[in-house]
Amino acid sequence: METSFLLPFSLMLLVTSLNIFCTLTLSATPTDSTTDQDALLALKNAITVDTNGVLSNSWLTNSSICEWAGVTCGVKHHRVTAINLSNFALHGKLTPHLGNLTFLQTLDVSSNNFTGVLPTELSKLHRLKHVNATSNNFTGEIPRGILTNMSLLEDIDLRVNNLSGALPSDICNNTPKLKILILRENLLYGKIPRNIYKCSELQKLSLSVNMFNGNIPTQVGNLSRLTYLSIYYNNLQGNIPSSIFNVSRLAFILLSANKLSGRIPTNLENLRNLQMLYLNKNNLTGVSNNLYLLTL
Ligand SMILES: *[C@@H]1O[C@H](CO)[C@@H](O)[C@H](O)[C@H]1NC(C)=O
Ligand SMILES: *[C@@H]1O[C@H](CO)[C@@H](O)[C@H](O)[C@H]1NC(C)=O
Ligand SMILES: *[C@@H]1O[C@H](CO)[C@@H](O)[C@H](O)[C@H]1NC(C)=O
Ligand SMILES: *[C@@H]1O[C@H](CO)[C@@H](O)[C@H](O)[C@H]1NC(C)=O
Ligand SMILES: *[C@@H]1O[C@H](CO)[C@@H](O)[C@H](O)[C@H]1NC(C)=O
Ligand SMILES: *[C@@H]1O[C@H](CO)[C@@H](O)[C@H](O)[C@H]1NC(C)=O
Ligand SMILES: *[C@@H]1O[C@H](CO)[C@@H](O)[C@H](O)[C@H]1NC(C)=O
Ligand SMILES: *[C@@H]1O[C@H](CO)[C@@H](O)[C@H](O)[C@H]1NC(C)=O
Ligand SMILES: *[C@@H]1O[C@H](CO)[C@@H](O)[C@H](O)[C@H]1NC(C)=O
Ligand SMILES: *[C@@H]1O[C@H](CO)[C@@H](O)[C@H](O)[C@H]1NC(C)=O
Ligand SMILES: *[C@@H]1O[C@H](CO)[C@@H](O)[C@H](O)[C@H]1NC(C)=O
Repeated sequence: METSFLLPFSLMLLVTSLNIFCTLTLSATPTDSTTDQDALLALKNAITVDTNGVLSNSWLTNSSICEWAGVTCGVKHHRVTAINLSNFALHGKLTPHLGNLTFLQTLDVSSNNFTGVLPTELSKLHRLKHVNATSNNFTGEIPRGILTNMSLLEDIDLRVNNLSGALPSDICNNTPKLKILILRENLLYGKIPRNIYKCSELQKLSLSVNMFNGNIPTQVGNLSRLTYLSIYYNNLQGNIPSSIFNVSRLAFILLSANKLSGRIPTNLENLRNLQMLYLNKNNLTGVSNNLYLLTL
Protein backbone atom coordinates (compact mmCIF):
# COMPACT_ATOMS: atom_id res chain seq x y z
CA MET A 1 0.00 0.00 0.00
CA GLU A 2 2.66 2.44 1.14
CA THR A 3 5.12 1.73 -1.69
CA SER A 4 2.43 2.13 -4.34
CA PHE A 5 1.77 5.54 -2.79
CA LEU A 6 5.47 6.43 -2.62
CA LEU A 7 6.33 5.39 -6.15
CA PRO A 8 4.20 7.96 -7.97
CA PHE A 9 5.34 10.52 -5.43
CA SER A 10 9.06 10.01 -6.23
CA LEU A 11 8.19 9.93 -9.92
CA MET A 12 6.51 13.26 -9.41
CA LEU A 13 9.68 14.60 -7.76
CA LEU A 14 11.74 13.35 -10.68
CA VAL A 15 9.40 14.99 -13.19
CA THR A 16 9.47 18.20 -11.21
CA SER A 17 13.26 18.32 -11.01
CA LEU A 18 13.50 17.46 -14.72
CA ASN A 19 11.17 20.32 -15.35
CA ILE A 20 13.32 22.70 -13.32
CA PHE A 21 16.42 21.40 -15.13
CA CYS A 22 14.83 22.06 -18.53
CA THR A 23 13.66 25.51 -17.55
CA LEU A 24 17.14 26.37 -16.27
CA THR A 25 18.96 25.17 -19.38
CA LEU A 26 16.45 26.89 -21.65
CA SER A 27 16.84 30.25 -19.96
CA ALA A 28 20.63 29.82 -19.62
CA THR A 29 21.30 29.46 -23.35
CA PRO A 30 20.61 32.87 -24.89
CA THR A 31 17.13 32.52 -26.50
CA ASP A 32 19.08 31.48 -29.51
CA SER A 33 19.07 31.62 -33.27
CA THR A 34 16.34 28.92 -33.35
CA THR A 35 13.99 31.50 -31.89
CA ASP A 36 15.14 33.95 -34.54
CA GLN A 37 14.59 31.37 -37.28
CA ASP A 38 11.10 30.63 -35.94
CA ALA A 39 10.29 34.34 -35.93
CA LEU A 40 11.54 34.82 -39.50
CA LEU A 41 9.66 31.75 -40.73
CA ALA A 42 6.51 33.10 -39.08
CA LEU A 43 7.09 36.35 -40.97
CA LYS A 44 7.63 34.46 -44.21
CA ASN A 45 4.36 32.62 -43.53
CA ALA A 46 2.50 35.90 -43.15
CA ILE A 47 3.68 37.13 -46.56
CA THR A 48 0.86 36.49 -49.00
CA VAL A 49 2.55 37.73 -52.19
CA ASP A 50 6.31 37.59 -52.75
CA THR A 51 6.32 39.17 -56.21
CA ASN A 52 10.05 38.77 -56.89
CA GLY A 53 10.34 35.45 -55.05
CA VAL A 54 13.03 36.86 -52.79
CA LEU A 55 11.85 35.10 -49.65
CA SER A 56 10.74 31.89 -51.34
CA ASN A 57 14.17 31.53 -52.97
CA SER A 58 16.34 32.67 -50.10
CA TRP A 59 14.60 32.10 -46.77
CA LEU A 60 15.22 28.32 -46.77
CA THR A 61 16.02 26.23 -43.72
CA ASN A 62 18.95 24.48 -45.39
CA SER A 63 20.95 27.70 -45.05
CA SER A 64 21.69 29.86 -42.05
CA ILE A 65 19.26 32.69 -41.40
CA CYS A 66 22.28 34.97 -41.47
CA GLU A 67 22.54 34.33 -45.22
CA TRP A 68 18.90 35.03 -45.95
CA ALA A 69 18.14 38.02 -48.18
CA GLY A 70 17.57 41.16 -46.17
CA VAL A 71 18.77 39.58 -42.90
CA THR A 72 21.90 40.65 -41.04
CA CYS A 73 23.29 38.90 -37.96
CA GLY A 74 25.64 40.01 -35.24
CA VAL A 75 29.17 38.57 -35.49
CA LYS A 76 29.29 37.32 -31.91
CA HIS A 77 25.96 35.65 -31.20
CA HIS A 78 24.65 35.07 -34.72
CA ARG A 79 21.44 36.74 -33.68
CA VAL A 80 19.44 38.83 -36.15
CA THR A 81 20.40 42.49 -35.82
CA ALA A 82 18.81 43.88 -38.98
CA ILE A 83 15.91 43.10 -41.26
CA ASN A 84 15.81 45.16 -44.42
CA LEU A 85 13.06 44.19 -46.83
CA SER A 86 12.82 47.63 -48.37
CA ASN A 87 11.26 47.55 -51.83
CA PHE A 88 10.94 43.74 -52.04
CA ALA A 89 7.38 44.04 -53.47
CA LEU A 90 5.88 42.05 -50.61
CA HIS A 91 2.21 41.89 -49.63
CA GLY A 92 1.12 40.59 -46.27
CA LYS A 93 1.28 41.34 -42.58
CA LEU A 94 3.96 41.69 -39.95
CA THR A 95 3.65 38.95 -37.35
CA PRO A 96 3.83 39.40 -33.56
CA HIS A 97 6.74 36.91 -33.65
CA LEU A 98 8.99 39.80 -34.69
CA GLY A 99 8.89 40.71 -31.01
CA ASN A 100 11.08 37.62 -30.36
CA LEU A 101 14.01 39.02 -32.34
CA THR A 102 15.48 40.50 -29.21
CA PHE A 103 18.76 41.60 -30.83
CA LEU A 104 17.06 43.56 -33.61
CA GLN A 105 18.43 47.06 -34.16
CA THR A 106 17.13 47.84 -37.62
CA LEU A 107 13.71 47.11 -39.09
CA ASP A 108 13.18 48.46 -42.61
CA VAL A 109 10.06 47.21 -44.38
CA SER A 110 9.58 50.40 -46.38
CA SER A 111 8.05 50.52 -49.86
CA ASN A 112 6.10 47.28 -49.86
CA ASN A 113 2.43 46.49 -49.63
CA PHE A 114 2.13 45.46 -46.00
CA THR A 115 -1.32 45.79 -44.42
CA GLY A 116 -2.63 45.28 -40.90
CA VAL A 117 -1.08 46.66 -37.73
CA LEU A 118 2.45 47.28 -36.58
CA PRO A 119 2.47 44.53 -33.89
CA THR A 120 2.54 45.83 -30.31
CA GLU A 121 5.22 43.17 -29.69
CA LEU A 122 7.68 45.48 -31.48
CA SER A 123 7.70 47.44 -28.21
CA LYS A 124 9.67 44.55 -26.71
CA LEU A 125 12.65 45.20 -28.98
CA HIS A 126 14.69 47.45 -26.74
CA ARG A 127 17.73 47.47 -28.97
CA LEU A 128 15.86 49.09 -31.88
CA LYS A 129 17.66 52.07 -33.40
CA HIS A 130 16.13 52.41 -36.85
CA VAL A 131 12.53 51.75 -37.85
CA ASN A 132 11.27 52.42 -41.36
CA ALA A 133 7.81 51.31 -42.49
CA THR A 134 7.10 54.09 -45.01
CA SER A 135 4.93 53.60 -48.07
CA ASN A 136 2.86 50.61 -47.07
CA ASN A 137 -0.74 50.31 -46.04
CA PHE A 138 -0.39 49.82 -42.28
CA THR A 139 -3.48 50.59 -40.19
CA GLY A 140 -4.27 50.80 -36.49
CA GLU A 141 -2.26 52.54 -33.82
CA ILE A 142 1.47 52.98 -33.54
CA PRO A 143 2.70 50.60 -30.80
CA ARG A 144 2.83 52.82 -27.75
CA GLY A 145 6.15 51.52 -26.41
CA ILE A 146 7.98 52.54 -29.58
CA LEU A 147 7.13 56.19 -29.01
CA THR A 148 7.48 56.22 -25.22
CA ASN A 149 10.08 53.70 -24.09
CA MET A 150 12.76 52.85 -26.64
CA SER A 151 15.99 54.07 -25.16
CA LEU A 152 18.23 53.52 -28.20
CA LEU A 153 15.81 54.58 -30.96
CA GLU A 154 17.31 57.18 -33.31
CA ASP A 155 14.88 57.37 -36.18
CA ILE A 156 11.39 56.20 -36.97
CA ASP A 157 9.76 56.87 -40.30
CA LEU A 158 6.14 55.73 -40.79
CA ARG A 159 5.07 58.17 -43.53
CA VAL A 160 2.49 57.26 -46.16
CA ASN A 161 0.39 54.63 -44.40
CA ASN A 162 -3.08 54.59 -42.90
CA LEU A 163 -2.08 54.66 -39.23
CA SER A 164 -4.68 56.11 -36.90
CA GLY A 165 -5.18 56.98 -33.26
CA ALA A 166 -3.64 59.64 -31.07
CA LEU A 167 -0.06 60.05 -29.96
CA PRO A 168 0.44 58.90 -26.34
CA SER A 169 0.62 61.78 -23.85
CA ASP A 170 3.81 60.26 -22.43
CA ILE A 171 5.51 60.27 -25.82
CA CYS A 172 9.28 60.78 -25.50
CA ASN A 173 9.36 59.71 -21.83
CA ASN A 174 12.26 57.37 -22.52
CA THR A 175 13.39 57.92 -26.11
CA PRO A 176 16.40 60.11 -25.36
CA LYS A 177 18.21 59.43 -28.65
CA LEU A 178 15.37 60.09 -31.06
CA LYS A 179 16.52 62.43 -33.85
CA ILE A 180 13.99 61.79 -36.58
CA LEU A 181 10.24 61.30 -36.14
CA ILE A 182 8.29 61.22 -39.39
CA LEU A 183 4.59 60.40 -39.28
CA ARG A 184 3.51 62.34 -42.37
CA GLU A 185 0.51 61.23 -44.47
CA ASN A 186 -1.44 59.06 -42.07
CA LEU A 187 -4.78 59.41 -40.27
CA LEU A 188 -3.43 60.44 -36.88
CA TYR A 189 -5.49 62.76 -34.73
CA GLY A 190 -5.68 64.42 -31.33
CA LYS A 191 -3.31 66.88 -29.76
CA ILE A 192 0.41 67.11 -30.26
CA PRO A 193 1.53 66.06 -26.75
CA ARG A 194 3.36 68.66 -24.66
CA ASN A 195 5.70 65.88 -23.58
CA ILE A 196 7.34 66.11 -27.02
CA TYR A 197 9.98 68.39 -25.51
CA LYS A 198 11.49 65.36 -23.77
CA CYS A 199 12.78 64.20 -27.17
CA SER A 200 15.53 66.73 -26.67
CA GLU A 201 17.72 65.40 -29.50
CA LEU A 202 14.97 65.73 -32.10
CA GLN A 203 16.17 67.27 -35.36
CA LYS A 204 13.39 66.44 -37.76
CA LEU A 205 9.69 66.35 -36.83
CA SER A 206 7.07 65.78 -39.49
CA LEU A 207 3.41 65.37 -38.58
CA SER A 208 2.01 66.86 -41.81
CA VAL A 209 -1.06 65.61 -43.64
CA ASN A 210 -2.85 64.08 -40.68
CA MET A 211 -5.77 65.28 -38.55
CA PHE A 212 -4.00 66.69 -35.52
CA ASN A 213 -5.98 69.36 -33.68
CA GLY A 214 -5.62 71.67 -30.72
CA ASN A 215 -2.78 74.15 -30.33
CA ILE A 216 0.84 73.76 -31.29
CA PRO A 217 2.34 73.22 -27.83
CA THR A 218 4.82 75.93 -26.78
CA GLN A 219 7.12 73.07 -25.73
CA VAL A 220 8.04 72.56 -29.40
CA GLY A 221 10.15 75.64 -28.78
CA ASN A 222 12.24 73.65 -26.28
CA LEU A 223 13.48 71.34 -29.04
CA SER A 224 16.69 73.27 -29.48
CA ARG A 225 18.19 70.86 -32.03
CA LEU A 226 15.24 71.01 -34.38
CA THR A 227 16.10 71.93 -37.96
CA TYR A 228 12.92 70.72 -39.69
CA LEU A 229 9.40 71.26 -38.40
CA SER A 230 6.59 70.23 -40.70
CA ILE A 231 2.96 70.20 -39.54
CA TYR A 232 1.11 71.41 -42.63
CA TYR A 233 -2.36 70.04 -43.52
CA ASN A 234 -3.81 69.39 -40.09
CA ASN A 235 -6.53 71.04 -38.01
CA LEU A 236 -4.31 72.98 -35.67
CA GLN A 237 -5.69 76.18 -34.22
CA GLY A 238 -4.65 79.00 -31.95
CA ASN A 239 -1.51 81.10 -32.12
CA ILE A 240 1.87 80.07 -33.39
CA PRO A 241 3.89 79.94 -30.16
CA SER A 242 6.69 82.48 -30.39
CA SER A 243 8.93 79.95 -28.62
CA ILE A 244 9.27 78.17 -31.98
CA PHE A 245 10.88 81.24 -33.49
CA ASN A 246 13.50 80.98 -30.75
CA VAL A 247 14.86 77.69 -32.10
CA SER A 248 17.77 79.14 -33.98
CA ARG A 249 18.68 75.94 -35.87
CA LEU A 250 15.31 75.74 -37.63
CA ALA A 251 15.74 75.79 -41.40
CA PHE A 252 12.25 74.62 -42.40
CA ILE A 253 9.02 75.67 -40.73
CA LEU A 254 6.02 74.38 -42.64
CA LEU A 255 2.70 75.22 -40.97
CA SER A 256 0.46 75.82 -44.01
CA ALA A 257 -3.14 74.67 -44.27
CA ASN A 258 -4.25 74.64 -40.65
CA LYS A 259 -6.61 76.90 -38.73
CA LEU A 260 -3.90 78.90 -37.03
CA SER A 261 -4.89 82.42 -36.06
CA GLY A 262 -3.54 85.48 -34.33
CA ARG A 263 -0.39 87.40 -35.09
CA ILE A 264 2.66 85.91 -36.72
CA PRO A 265 5.50 86.01 -34.18
CA THR A 266 7.85 88.90 -34.81
CA ASN A 267 11.06 87.41 -33.42
CA LEU A 268 12.13 86.22 -36.87
CA GLU A 269 15.64 87.57 -36.40
CA ASN A 270 16.51 84.54 -34.20
CA LEU A 271 15.97 82.21 -37.12
CA ARG A 272 19.42 82.62 -38.56
CA ASN A 273 19.32 79.34 -40.51
CA LEU A 274 15.86 79.72 -41.97
CA GLN A 275 15.40 78.55 -45.53
CA MET A 276 11.66 78.06 -45.72
CA LEU A 277 8.74 79.44 -43.75
CA TYR A 278 5.31 78.45 -45.04
CA LEU A 279 2.32 79.87 -43.20
CA ASN A 280 -0.20 80.18 -46.02
CA LYS A 281 -3.76 78.81 -45.80
CA ASN A 282 -4.26 79.85 -42.21
CA ASN A 283 -6.01 82.81 -40.63
CA LEU A 284 -3.00 84.71 -39.43
CA THR A 285 -2.43 88.42 -39.18
CA GLY A 286 0.84 90.27 -39.02
CA VAL A 287 3.19 90.22 -41.94
CA SER A 288 0.96 88.47 -44.41
CA ASN A 289 -1.45 85.61 -44.23
CA ASN A 290 0.03 84.30 -47.45
CA LEU A 291 3.59 84.29 -46.29
CA TYR A 292 6.02 82.11 -48.13
CA LEU A 293 9.48 83.08 -47.13
CA LEU A 294 12.49 81.73 -48.92
CA THR A 295 15.92 82.80 -47.90
CA LEU A 296 19.42 81.38 -48.12
C1 LIG B 1 18.45 24.38 -50.37
O1 LIG B 1 17.30 23.75 -50.93
C2 LIG B 1 16.90 24.29 -52.18
C3 LIG B 1 15.66 23.57 -52.66
O2 LIG B 1 14.81 23.25 -51.61
C4 LIG B 1 18.00 24.14 -53.22
O3 LIG B 1 17.61 24.74 -54.41
C5 LIG B 1 19.27 24.79 -52.70
O4 LIG B 1 20.34 24.56 -53.58
C6 LIG B 1 19.63 24.27 -51.32
N1 LIG B 1 20.73 25.07 -50.81
C7 LIG B 1 21.76 24.55 -50.16
C8 LIG B 1 22.79 25.51 -49.65
O5 LIG B 1 21.86 23.36 -49.95
C1 LIG C 1 17.71 49.08 -46.70
O1 LIG C 1 18.13 48.76 -48.00
C2 LIG C 1 17.95 49.83 -48.93
C3 LIG C 1 18.29 49.34 -50.31
O2 LIG C 1 19.17 48.32 -50.30
C4 LIG C 1 18.85 50.98 -48.50
O3 LIG C 1 18.70 52.06 -49.39
C5 LIG C 1 18.44 51.41 -47.11
O4 LIG C 1 19.31 52.42 -46.65
C6 LIG C 1 18.49 50.25 -46.14
N1 LIG C 1 17.89 50.63 -44.87
C7 LIG C 1 18.58 50.77 -43.74
C8 LIG C 1 17.82 51.19 -42.55
O5 LIG C 1 19.78 50.55 -43.67
C1 LIG D 1 7.39 34.22 -30.17
O1 LIG D 1 6.35 35.14 -30.18
C2 LIG D 1 5.07 34.56 -30.29
C3 LIG D 1 4.05 35.67 -30.50
O2 LIG D 1 4.36 36.86 -29.88
C4 LIG D 1 4.82 33.69 -29.11
O3 LIG D 1 3.55 33.12 -29.14
C5 LIG D 1 5.87 32.59 -29.07
O4 LIG D 1 5.71 31.83 -27.93
C6 LIG D 1 7.27 33.15 -29.13
N1 LIG D 1 8.18 32.04 -29.40
C7 LIG D 1 9.36 31.89 -28.82
C8 LIG D 1 10.14 30.68 -29.20
O5 LIG D 1 9.80 32.68 -28.02
C1 LIG E 1 12.74 55.25 -45.11
O1 LIG E 1 12.73 54.58 -46.36
C2 LIG E 1 12.46 55.42 -47.48
C3 LIG E 1 12.53 54.59 -48.76
O2 LIG E 1 11.87 53.39 -48.65
C4 LIG E 1 13.50 56.52 -47.55
O3 LIG E 1 13.16 57.41 -48.59
C5 LIG E 1 13.54 57.29 -46.23
O4 LIG E 1 14.58 58.25 -46.27
C6 LIG E 1 13.79 56.35 -45.08
N1 LIG E 1 13.68 57.09 -43.82
C7 LIG E 1 14.71 57.27 -42.99
C8 LIG E 1 14.44 58.05 -41.75
O5 LIG E 1 15.82 56.83 -43.20
C1 LIG F 1 0.89 48.04 -53.82
O1 LIG F 1 -0.16 47.40 -54.51
C2 LIG F 1 -0.84 48.25 -55.39
C3 LIG F 1 -2.01 47.51 -55.96
O2 LIG F 1 -2.05 46.19 -55.56
C4 LIG F 1 0.12 48.71 -56.48
O3 LIG F 1 -0.52 49.62 -57.33
C5 LIG F 1 1.31 49.42 -55.82
O4 LIG F 1 2.28 49.75 -56.79
C6 LIG F 1 1.95 48.52 -54.80
N1 LIG F 1 2.97 49.28 -54.08
C7 LIG F 1 4.20 48.79 -53.87
C8 LIG F 1 5.15 49.70 -53.15
O5 LIG F 1 4.54 47.68 -54.20
C1 LIG G 1 -5.02 49.74 -48.50
O1 LIG G 1 -5.92 48.83 -47.91
C2 LIG G 1 -7.27 49.12 -48.18
C3 LIG G 1 -8.15 48.14 -47.43
O2 LIG G 1 -7.45 47.38 -46.51
C4 LIG G 1 -7.51 49.01 -49.67
O3 LIG G 1 -8.85 49.36 -49.95
C5 LIG G 1 -6.58 49.98 -50.39
O4 LIG G 1 -6.71 49.81 -51.78
C6 LIG G 1 -5.14 49.71 -50.01
N1 LIG G 1 -4.29 50.71 -50.63
C7 LIG G 1 -3.20 50.40 -51.31
C8 LIG G 1 -2.43 51.56 -51.89
O5 LIG G 1 -2.82 49.26 -51.46
C1 LIG H 1 -5.50 54.32 -47.12
O1 LIG H 1 -6.80 53.80 -47.22
C2 LIG H 1 -7.54 54.33 -48.31
C3 LIG H 1 -8.94 53.78 -48.20
O2 LIG H 1 -8.95 52.40 -48.07
C4 LIG H 1 -6.85 53.94 -49.61
O3 LIG H 1 -7.55 54.49 -50.69
C5 LIG H 1 -5.43 54.45 -49.60
O4 LIG H 1 -4.75 54.00 -50.73
C6 LIG H 1 -4.69 53.97 -48.37
N1 LIG H 1 -3.39 54.62 -48.30
C7 LIG H 1 -2.26 53.96 -48.30
C8 LIG H 1 -1.01 54.77 -48.19
O5 LIG H 1 -2.21 52.76 -48.39
C1 LIG I 1 10.64 50.28 -20.52
O1 LIG I 1 11.50 49.32 -21.06
C2 LIG I 1 12.25 48.59 -20.11
C3 LIG I 1 13.21 47.67 -20.83
O2 LIG I 1 14.17 48.40 -21.49
C4 LIG I 1 11.30 47.81 -19.23
O3 LIG I 1 12.02 47.10 -18.28
C5 LIG I 1 10.34 48.76 -18.56
O4 LIG I 1 9.38 48.05 -17.84
C6 LIG I 1 9.63 49.64 -19.57
N1 LIG I 1 8.89 50.68 -18.88
C7 LIG I 1 7.62 50.95 -19.16
C8 LIG I 1 7.02 52.07 -18.37
O5 LIG I 1 6.99 50.34 -19.99
C1 LIG J 1 11.32 75.46 -22.21
O1 LIG J 1 11.65 76.75 -22.69
C2 LIG J 1 11.18 77.80 -21.85
C3 LIG J 1 11.42 79.10 -22.57
O2 LIG J 1 12.71 79.16 -23.12
C4 LIG J 1 11.90 77.71 -20.52
O3 LIG J 1 11.43 78.71 -19.65
C5 LIG J 1 11.58 76.35 -19.90
O4 LIG J 1 12.30 76.19 -18.72
C6 LIG J 1 11.95 75.22 -20.86
N1 LIG J 1 11.49 73.97 -20.31
C7 LIG J 1 12.25 72.90 -20.21
C8 LIG J 1 11.63 71.70 -19.61
O5 LIG J 1 13.42 72.89 -20.59
C1 LIG K 1 13.33 83.24 -26.38
O1 LIG K 1 14.70 83.25 -25.97
C2 LIG K 1 15.02 84.37 -25.14
C3 LIG K 1 16.51 84.36 -24.92
O2 LIG K 1 16.98 83.08 -24.66
C4 LIG K 1 14.23 84.26 -23.85
O3 LIG K 1 14.50 85.34 -23.03
C5 LIG K 1 12.74 84.23 -24.19
O4 LIG K 1 12.00 84.01 -23.00
C6 LIG K 1 12.43 83.13 -25.17
N1 LIG K 1 11.05 83.25 -25.58
C7 LIG K 1 10.21 82.24 -25.62
C8 LIG K 1 8.82 82.55 -26.02
O5 LIG K 1 10.54 81.11 -25.35
C1 LIG L 1 -10.03 84.76 -38.84
O1 LIG L 1 -9.65 85.60 -37.75
C2 LIG L 1 -10.53 86.70 -37.54
C3 LIG L 1 -9.95 87.52 -36.39
O2 LIG L 1 -8.59 87.74 -36.55
C4 LIG L 1 -11.91 86.20 -37.20
O3 LIG L 1 -12.79 87.28 -37.09
C5 LIG L 1 -12.39 85.27 -38.32
O4 LIG L 1 -13.62 84.69 -37.95
C6 LIG L 1 -11.37 84.16 -38.58
N1 LIG L 1 -11.79 83.37 -39.72
C7 LIG L 1 -11.80 82.06 -39.73
C8 LIG L 1 -12.23 81.41 -41.01
O5 LIG L 1 -11.47 81.40 -38.76
